Amino acid sequence: MQDIILLTGAGKGIGKAIALDFSRKAQKNPSFNPVLILSSRTYSDIVALAEECEALGAKAVPIEADIASLDDIDCLVGQTLQEFGTIDCLVNNAGVGRFKDIGDMTEEDFDYTMSVNMKGTFFLTQKVFPVMEQKRSGHIFFITSIAAEIAFKSSSVYSMSKFGQKGLVEALRLYGRECNVKITNVMPGAVYTPMWGEAANELKEVMMMPEDIAGPVVDAYLQPPRTSVEEIVLRPVGGDINS
Ligand SMILES: NC(=O)c1ccc[n+]([C@@H]2O[C@H](COP(=O)([O-])OP(=O)(O)OC[C@H]3O[C@@H](n4cnc5c(N)ncnc54)[C@H](OP(=O)(O)O)[C@@H]3O)[C@@H](O)[C@H]2O)c1
Repeated sequence: MQDIILLTGAGKGIGKAIALDFSRKAQKNPSFNPVLILSSRTYSDIVALAEECEALGAKAVPIEADIASLDDIDCLVGQTLQEFGTIDCLVNNAGVGRFKDIGDMTEEDFDYTMSVNMKGTFFLTQKVFPVMEQKRSGHIFFITSIAAEIAFKSSSVYSMSKFGQKGLVEALRLYGRECNVKITNVMPGAVYTPMWGEAANELKEVMMMPEDIAGPVVDAYLQPPRTSVEEIVLRPVGGDINS
């Protein structure tokens, strides 16, 4: 049997690492057959990643979508359902951050962050959840952040969006428990990815790597049907990077 796994923000960073980890675990476990629907705005990223996943033996389909657009969300879910008939796992990973002092945040910074992290994540989840609810199985991951629990001065708007995602996770879990759908909140601290821009180079030594997040996510998906890993908190061993 195939597992249809829809992954947003798959082109880079943590999303890419999750896609590769699913592929590697499938290679080791012949009874696990993931079909990875790889989505992001940059088509060349997800085409290249699909080739890497297929080289590891997984089936992978790139679909370009901007989750800030409800039309793109409709197309992404519609195309997946048309081709594969169902969705077993949604990984809400796509996210953006603009990091600066609170007084420097513009309306555009605010709208951009909220349109992806809050609006996009909400409406994609709203579209996918009924598919799982109806068949009484499925698993939805939210890659929120440690910034969903602790605010940092440079991340006021980002933190608002991540606290908001946590609200969605907790509300959705109440629905999920009634229909056997697992909901997992993944809260990483600092991870070395393109999201950090040039700051990543200075901080690399004290950060986690994307694969450190991917492993626990995929392992949580592979738990027995009776068990739901509800939260995963991962931090650099030296604690949070407060910059
Ligand atoms: N890095 C960290 O330290 C850290 C820590 C905790 C949590 N997180 C969270 O983990 C998730 C992944 O972050 P990352 O560090 O891997 O970031 P990243 O390296 O910047 O990658 C983000 C991915 O999301 C895609 N994306 C961005 N906006 C999108 C949109 N509107 N529609 C569809 N795809 C979009 C990007 O591709 P395109 O630009 O091509 O669309 C890219 O593939 C985010 O939700 C982030 O908040 C990151």
